[in-house]
Amino acid sequence: MRIAIFASGSGSNAEAIIRASKDGRLSAEIGLVVSNNASAGVLQRAKAFNVNSCVSDQRNFDNEESYNSSLFGILDDNGIDFIALAGYLKLIKPEMIKKYKNKITNIHPALLPSFGGKGFYGKKVHQAVLEAGCKVSGVTIHLVSEAYDRGPIISQLTVPVFEDDSPESLAARLLKVEHQIYPEALQLFADDRVKVTNNSVRIIDKV
Ligand code: GRF
Repeated sequence: MRIAIFASGSGSNAEAIIRASKDGRLSAEIGLVVSNNASAGVLQRAKAFNVNSCVSDQRNFDNEESYNSSLFGILDDNGIDFIALAGYLKLIKPEMIKKYKNKITNIHPALLPSFGGKGFYGKKVHQAVLEAGCKVSGVTIHLVSEAYDRGPIISQLTVPVFEDDSPESLAARLLKVEHQIYPEALQLFADDRVKVTNNSVRIIDKV
């Protein structure tokens, strides 16, 4: 499996995945990091680990078709057969979802299907969880479909919400779990243990 990580921001999840690949916890290669944001921290992290990276921003293209064909070309040139979104703030195009069917994952810092969808990103997710008075939150890894934060759920872990939590303290507690759960979920794909039927995922035993 040769993964491209798509990220728009700091890239701590990207780094966790790269580290897992380098130290053998994830039996897949990280072939590429793609960002839509030329000043994203993830690009520095990729460089530090000698991972190929590129900036692909639709605003630099005349139309959607030329943007798509450029991105597809980059992925093909790098031998990519799996995409892991990690804090990527752009909607994935239907053409991409079709080409990489059930091979694009996303991480969300809440227990989907709650607190997800358009507008639920960054601090806003944790603010909403705290405002709703939830006693637990968590992390979800799911397959990507055409709507934000939908698509079959692969794995989830919970974390407690404390009475004195701020969005920042909750985010920090979740981030530690994110760094653990994402490489583990990707390993399920590397081991071909993820079976998708009728919008739900079954993890089959390791052979
Ligand atoms: C994470 O909280 C992730 O769940 C969300 O965006 C954030 C990205 O953080 N989708 P980082 O860039 O990986 O540090």
